[in-house]
Amino acid sequence: MDVASFDTQLQALRARAISAIATADSPAALDAIESGMLGRKGELRGLLGGIGALSAEDRPKVGAMANPVREAIESALAERRVGLESEALEARLTAEAEDMTLPGRPRWRGSLHPLRETEAEIARIFGQFGFVVVESPEVESDELNFGALNIPADHPARDLWDTIYVQPAEGAERDDRLLLRTHTSPGQIRAMRDSSPPIRVLTPGRCYRYEAVDASHGFEFFQMEGLMVDEGTSMAHLRGLLDSFAHAMFGAHRATRFRPGYYPFTEPSVAFDIGCVVCEGAGCPACKRTGWMTILGAGMVHPVVLRNGGIDPERYQGFAFGMGTDRIAMLRYAITDIRAFLANDMRFLERL
Ligand code: DAH
Repeated sequence: MDVASFDTQLQALRARAISAIATADSPAALDAIESGMLGRKGELRGLLGGIGALSAEDRPKVGAMANPVREAIESALAERRVGLESEALEARLTAEAEDMTLPGRPRWRGSLHPLRETEAEIARIFGQFGFVVVESPEVESDELNFGALNIPADHPARDLWDTIYVQPAEGAERDDRLLLRTHTSPGQIRAMRDSSPPIRVLTPGRCYRYEAVDASHGFEFFQMEGLMVDEGTSMAHLRGLLDSFAHAMFGAHRATRFRPGYYPFTEPSVAFDIGCVVCEGAGCPACKRTGWMTILGAGMVHPVVLRNGGIDPERYQGFAFGMGTDRIAMLRYAITDIRAFLANDMRFLERL
């Protein structure tokens, strides 16, 4: 073999290697080509093994021709390796791609319960007049729920407000009995005993009564109580405050009125009515054709109650009011069944 035929064979080897590399479809295939062509027992070495037959001066020439062939094969291998890697990555990206056009699963969004929302709105309105919210217990003493509010043991109002009694302690006196409060009014006594005038508080919360449950009566329900005690507090202040409340809650055009009422803990006592929110006063089944709806009871705090709260009725006067939060919420959101508030139907929370 002469130099020229070495050259021919080297070029042929290079061409074969390059085309094999171009069609190799895996790193393993490239490894096989590499060792088959360039390895210790590879074709290039095999070919160069024959240079012993050449003259001493021709040998380096062939060696010099072989180097670019090796280099060309090496760089083709390297390039193809990189190419295969990016093809593999490309394939993975395609295979694992998320379909971003799919609509997402809707998330459950929390919202305030209509009762909580209503409580917050009532508190916001009275808050503008300086009233602050204080909590008061649901398990209450007989004394605070009734006695201190001027409802003695044999008072008929107790029949209307019968409730669930908590097992009394061994040998407890009647006034030590515990019960589930029938209204938020005991919060008045607590507020008076815990602080001193001027007092402006709201006591919201859950109440209980022995009640035949229907669309407008629950044995569990919610009230919002208000109490103001100060020097010179009058019925006119009460009226003005309740008007402002009614207008903020049910519209500035809303008609309002006081009707005489009776509660043992206020004197005088009133029922506070607003123009029917359904018929706007024309008369409809919702207002029993009167055009009016009663939304709360109120009055001037009875001197006996002030005294039970530790306050001197000669110096201070007060007014109080109590409303059914459920009823306010029902009017506000046109809810027709009070039982819906506690039925735990999640759709109820979506309406706000
Ligand atoms: N506690 C009364 C009830 O449950 C509501 C009430 C009436 C509260 C008059 C008051 C008030 O503070 O002054 O029916």
